[in-house]
Amino acid sequence: MRKTEILTLLRESADYLSGQELCGRLGVSRTAVWKIINQLKEEGYEIEAVQNRGYRLLSSPDLLGESEIKSRLHTGWAGKNLIFHPVTGSTNIDAKAAAEKGAPEGTLVVTERQDAGRGRRGRGWFSPEGCNLYFTILLRPGCAPDQACTLTLVMALAVAQAVRELGLDVGIKWPNDVVIAGKKVCGILTEMSAEPDFIHYVVIGTGMNVNQEAFPEEIAGTATSLRIEKGERIARAGLLASVMAHFESAYETFCATWDLSGLAADYESLLLNKDRPVRVLDPKGDFEGTARGINEKGELLVERQDGRLECVYAGEVSVRGVYGYV
Ligand code: BTN
Repeated sequence: MRKTEILTLLRESADYLSGQELCGRLGVSRTAVWKIINQLKEEGYEIEAVQNRGYRLLSSPDLLGESEIKSRLHTGWAGKNLIFHPVTGSTNIDAKAAAEKGAPEGTLVVTERQDAGRGRRGRGWFSPEGCNLYFTILLRPGCAPDQACTLTLVMALAVAQAVRELGLDVGIKWPNDVVIAGKKVCGILTEMSAEPDFIHYVVIGTGMNVNQEAFPEEIAGTATSLRIEKGERIARAGLLASVMAHFESAYETFCATWDLSGLAADYESLLLNKDRPVRVLDPKGDFEGTARGINEKGELLVERQDGRLECVYAGEVSVRGVYGYV
């Protein structure tokens, strides 16, 4: 797509790019370049054109189009195959449909709005237009299905690392809630198609509250957005590209051992529950203890009052802070 290529070249160039150079690199006429530049301007890109010097990108709108995302992605495989829908039901459903048709690992589905956004435990995910990020990545890991459950923690780590780079004090509430100031900014829904010992595919769907300014009353006490916490708008495509870069690197580390042994230290450095009292809500009986970290399977290590260490598996229980949400 010429638009993506021009945008990428403008973004990567520190100085003006002459029309002639753009034509040469893309193999198109000057008129074609001029038309695309005008198209970009109409979409809200601020492009300076100076005679004898060329074009320079001054600013980009907070758009989530295909060209905007592609020109920001610097990954090897994550998001290279991009499916963008202005509106959809759920990106997880779209990613599963793409997987069934043979889409490659790393396929990324992104949308501006979901009309049937899905959350965990059969809940919905409120997905208004033009302010947040909703995306799902397709993976085809060669591990056993129970090992792939930890991929949710890998995505939480990538999201938290990208958010931290924005200068926000972010952490993870085990297993995969990304939290700022005690409130959730991101939800992750991982779904899998597998036989007992073989994974067909995994889709990891992520919803990040980015520029949303207010929340429905029932979640206002537990949800926040990056904009609310930072006090300024965040450019979503750049943030998505950053999450993808962190995820690609973390996933490759995961694939080396099919567990979290190479990521546990990074994860624990962001783990809000660490060394704090927690209540484990276990169908076999609740108990309290102190969270000490995670093991390579992503289980939470909880030290009971008598000193015994329990490995708590995310699928079976939920964990609350004894003195609040974390
Ligand atoms: C949660 O309940 O915490 C998980 C919410 C996951 C929401 C994301 S938004 C993108 C993807 N598509 C969906 O329908 N759900 C996930």
